[in-house]
Amino acid sequence: MNYEELMEKAVEASKNSYSPYSKFAVGACVITDSGKIYTGCNFENSSFGMTICAERNAIGSAVADGERKIKAVAIYSPNQDNCAPCGACRQVIHEFCDNDADVDIILKNKDELRVITLASLLPESFNL
Ligand code: THU
Repeated sequence: MNYEELMEKAVEASKNSYSPYSKFAVGACVITDSGKIYTGCNFENSSFGMTICAERNAIGSAVADGERKIKAVAIYSPNQDNCAPCGACRQVIHEFCDNDADVDIILKNKDELRVITLASLLPESFNL
């Protein structure tokens, strides 16, 4: 699956966003090293801190299916061009990558894709 197709799945997932409070929809699509695909959307809660981001939703599905290595993540919001992962999600993506943080993060600006690395978004990351 190429990055265009991965982004299409993120766009589809964003349509299921449950975001009545922020009205900010997000969809994500993860591809793992074994080529499996998982999607997620953000889902909010009246107790705001319980909100789950789209990326973490998708990664949770991957982990529940036994996957442990993320190759790339496409993220899309109809509300913002180049919607990038929040700091918490950067750290969660980092948990499931190689030490060099060689994960492609795919963003969408109008009809163009932008590909950046997790390493550039999360330099000097925390590891145990
Ligand atoms: N959100 C995500 O889904 N992913 C991010 O990386 C940033 C923020 C969601 C959380 C909340 O539902 C809405 O966007 C506004 O913060």
